[in-house]
Amino acid sequence: MSAAEDVQIALPDETATAGLGKALATLLPLPSVVFLTGQLGAGKTTLTRAILHGLGHSGNVKSPTYTLVEPYALGSFSVFHFDLYRLADPEELEYLGIRDYFHERAICLIEWPERGAELLPSPDLTVRLQVVGTGRKAILMADKVELMNRLSTLAAEQALD
Ligand SMILES: Nc1ncnc2c1ncn2[C@@H]1O[C@H](COP(=O)(O)OP(=O)(O)OP(=O)(O)O)[C@@H](O)[C@H]1O
Ligand SMILES: [Mg+2]
Repeated sequence: MSAAEDVQIALPDETATAGLGKALATLLPLPSVVFLTGQLGAGKTTLTRAILHGLGHSGNVKSPTYTLVEPYALGSFSVFHFDLYRLADPEELEYLGIRDYFHERAICLIEWPERGAELLPSPDLTVRLQVVGTGRKAILMADKVELMNRLSTLAAEQALD
């Protein structure tokens, strides 16, 4: 099977990252598992914050660096924001009861998914953030054609801005 083509979006400043998050909030199906990858400071938490605000959360979004996961109850569904940077061993996720988070009414946004290895389900969407000069670039990959098409449309719209 050949890999689906990815979609790339230039994010010259933090406002652009916030705009992408807001757009993703309207595109993500329920349930969704989203992997957020990229080096320290690439903008994973910034993007997460914008997705959460786009989904209707109005308060703070703090980085769950030490708690590993931060839950958000948004009415009829939940968002779980994971930051697995400090996970010493994927087995720790078993103690966290990791499977219970991936339910039918959950959107799971996972920073540093590499650290969770095979204990995580495969993602519906992967957002890879790369540092480009003083800005960033997002590379988006989804297995499902429908989501990929929506992302392509989004990238085309952004290119026209
Ligand atoms: N498109 C962008 N252009 C320039 N700076 C950005 C952009 N998006 C986010 N930033 C900035 O990058 C910095 C780090 O962002 P953030 O904390 O979201 O990174 P992170 O990927 O979550 O890092 P970590 O791996 O440490 O959790 C913030 O100061 C944020 O303002
Ligand atoms: Mg972060």
